[in-house]
Amino acid sequence: MKKIQIINGPNLNLLGKREPSVYGNTSFESFLESLQNNYPDCRISYFQSNIEGEMINKIHETGFDFDGIILNAGAYTHTSIALHDAIKAIQTPVIEVHISNVHAREESRHHSMISAACRGVILGFGMESYRLALDFFNNLSGNENK
Ligand code: DQA
Repeated sequence: MKKIQIINGPNLNLLGKREPSVYGNTSFESFLESLQNNYPDCRISYFQSNIEGEMINKIHETGFDFDGIILNAGAYTHTSIALHDAIKAIQTPVIEVHISNVHAREESRHHSMISAACRGVILGFGMESYRLALDFFNNLSGNENK
């Protein structure tokens, strides 16, 4: 059984209510239930925080024995050197995900402070972005590393 951690950052607790034209109508909790059902070989843990330091603590906590971390850092994506450093500090591969296509939005969202530290980036596919990231970890063989 693979252990996968999903970490959602600021304002993503409001998915389903927040700017539905950008982020859709589905709450993360209901999406997560169907995701878990479709990937029985992965045990998915979910953590959301609006606080940067709590996200960093979760990265440290899961970064040495989980098989993968799927991280939507919300707006901290565009600002946080501390998250970049946390991703560099751990062994578990991290996939950066975004629901929206940040490159089609305001210029302030075009740069990511964390991409260079991540195994890969998936963005613009709505909630499907998380599933694509999970699919990668699900298919990853044990000896492919960070
Ligand atoms: C986001 C994109 C970010 O620019 C924004 O601040 C978010 C959500 C996304 O999933 O599309 O909060 O990460």
